[in-house]
Amino acid sequence: MKIAIIGAGNVGGALAKAAIAGGHEVAISASSPEVAAQAAQAAGATAARSNAEVVANADIVILAVPYAAVQAIAQELGDALTEKIVVDSTNPLDETGRDLLTSGISAAEGLQAQLPGTKVVKAFNTIFAGRHARPSEEGRQLDAFIASDDADAKAKVGEFARSLG
Ligand SMILES: NC(=O)c1ccc[n+]([C@@H]2O[C@H](COP(=O)([O-])OP(=O)(O)OC[C@H]3O[C@@H](n4cnc5c(N)ncnc54)[C@H](OP(=O)(O)O)[C@@H]3O)[C@@H](O)[C@H]2O)c1
Repeated sequence: MKIAIIGAGNVGGALAKAAIAGGHEVAISASSPEVAAQAAQAAGATAARSNAEVVANADIVILAVPYAAVQAIAQELGDALTEKIVVDSTNPLDETGRDLLTSGISAAEGLQAQLPGTKVVKAFNTIFAGRHARPSEEGRQLDAFIASDDADAKAKVGEFARSLG
């Protein structure tokens, strides 16, 4: 699959390495092209110069950015995400890391409401970044929890998660 990862930090970098090992084509963007280039080089992926560029040909777009950045990215990309599968890996934590910034609806429900034409899927937020490349414990595979209102998108992200191990 063609995987676009927005965010080149702990999660973006780790998922890029895991996806490359799983046989996928991976492109990464970040706030700055330099950060994307570094992470792409470390993972064996392709660097994109912008978020718009990274999503252009993607089968799956993964948001691996701080929750606080999600709304602006959704606004920035808008129609470019129509019909795309967008995986939200964020945890909407406040600055203390102990409380949530959401109330009433989840972060993914909020993103789906902002992008009604996009297939939003929640995944990878329950697994520490360091685990993405080696998702097992004592020889047992870790579980990937996946949620979406779109069954086909959920199945495709499940297929992708299985390909990572
Ligand atoms: N760390 C974990 O183990 C873990 C596990 C599960 C879920 N999560 C969730 O995953 C998300 C990412 O966590 P992380 O630890 O990977 O964070 P991180 O290391 O701080 O990386 C965040 C990345 O997002 C990029 N970014 C910020 N704003 C952006 C924008 N507008 N456009 C493009 N890229 C942007 C940053 O780019 P620059 O460096 O260029 O600013 C940086 O590369 C968070 O929401 C977190 O709650 C984390």
